[in-house]
Amino acid sequence: MRLAHVILAAGKGTRMRSRRPKVLHPILGKPMILYAVETARRVTPMPPVVVVGHEAEQVQAVVGDEAHFIVQHEQRGTAHAVLQTAAFLADKADVVLVTYGDMPLLRAETLRHIVQEHVRSQATITMLTAVLDEPRGYGRIVRDASGRIQAIVEEADATPEQRAIRELNVGIYAFDARWLWENLPRIQPSPVKGEYYLTDTVALAVQQGHTVATLSVEDPAEVLGVNTRVHLAEVTRALQHRINTAWMLAGVTLIDPATAYIGPDVQLAQDVVIHPHVTLLGRTTVGEETEIGPGTYIDSCTIGRRCRIFYSVLEHAVLEDEVDVGPFSHLRKGAHLARGVHVGNFGEIKNSYLGPGTKMGHFSYIGDADIGAHVNIGAGTITCNYDGQRKHKTVVENHAFIGSDTMLVAPVRVGQGAKTGAGSVVTRDIPPYTLAYGVPARPRGTIHPDEQGKEQESS
Ligand code: UD1
Ligand code: MG
Repeated sequence: MRLAHVILAAGKGTRMRSRRPKVLHPILGKPMILYAVETARRVTPMPPVVVVGHEAEQVQAVVGDEAHFIVQHEQRGTAHAVLQTAAFLADKADVVLVTYGDMPLLRAETLRHIVQEHVRSQATITMLTAVLDEPRGYGRIVRDASGRIQAIVEEADATPEQRAIRELNVGIYAFDARWLWENLPRIQPSPVKGEYYLTDTVALAVQQGHTVATLSVEDPAEVLGVNTRVHLAEVTRALQHRINTAWMLAGVTLIDPATAYIGPDVQLAQDVVIHPHVTLLGRTTVGEETEIGPGTYIDSCTIGRRCRIFYSVLEHAVLEDEVDVGPFSHLRKGAHLARGVHVGNFGEIKNSYLGPGTKMGHFSYIGDADIGAHVNIGAGTITCNYDGQRKHKTVVENHAFIGSDTMLVAPVRVGQGAKTGAGSVVTRDIPPYTLAYGVPARPRGTIHPDEQGKEQESS
């Protein structure tokens, strides 16, 4: 059985009141449409067909090669949207699964279940329904006296009696492909809204004497669709709950799960501890026994074991094992801290490597630098890496001692075991084991290699 998956995402999402297309609004850091596309990729080997319309280019740019796109130039309803894929899919699929781009909590297992039921019951249409207290504007499932499904009636077209029905159309269907392509063109526009409703396929199939099977959703949270920003927050909360529960069961401590925001692509090892008010996004990975927070934001970082990160912001950075950061530090793109590095208060590091055991305790900016092992970066040290036009590199070799308030005017190199005095402005390279200070800094003496250990401990 060849299974195709169509994701409808052409609508404008008017009720979001946004310049941004609805399906590109992020949920826990990831655009909504990618949830639907990734779920689809787990259900069938054929790339999903995404129907785009409103701001189609933006949506395509975000999804990339993970899907095939069909543009629906005018949004004339869900049946019209699916019909746009007919020419492309006609000879490629036996069963067509249809879902929406605005239902990010839907699980691949649920879709597999629908397809299995569809095949087992040999139905023409198999659809998912939900019984909800709040109908959320969903289509109502109309059944006859013997309980057989007759039709789906949209809220706008429903009679008061039909509106009272609480069995709802979630908007997820498996169709027999041949029947679908033959019958979609027969659907007439709704007298009320003028749209071509995909839901009208149900009444059509029933009239033709075909089987329409229904399956009721086990977890109603799965089918929460996003139409407004209120729904966006509800879905975020539900996804947060799902993700956090899974991590706790996997051996991660969340001190306050309500204020831990962990993106769907984050990986946490056993015995990680997450304190309150922490956001972890992107492809962040965290090693065993690391403690994060309170008050920390981390996007797309690789973090080792037994690290401690406290009230800080980390973006696209790499931390090896036993690194500690914060409070109030900012690691930017390309910061790479080797094992045992200490970054204390109000530090900023960008595009720089800090070697094992290096310490930077207070108020420093390190950019475009290559810092060796066991370097002591004194309070207020700054790499002056930008001359107004170009960025330049700073190199500090192993065991160097940078005195408080040193300005390292790049390009510049501080040799192994060298030392700068407080307030130095270093404009020229300092040779190894040399003491330099002043403005501009000049070599003033030598340092005996045996003394370097003592120098570091005195900070
Ligand atoms: C639809 C169903 C309704 C169901 C509800 C569940 C129909 C007629 N109604 O209503 O029974 O309870 O979903 O959420 O199908 N879209 C297009 N092109 C269009 C129109 C819509 O791509 O021309 C896309 C939208 O971007 C959206 C999805 O289809 O992702 C659903 O469209 P929407 O207008 O939100 O339908 P609902 O009114 O929610
Ligand atoms: Mg909708």
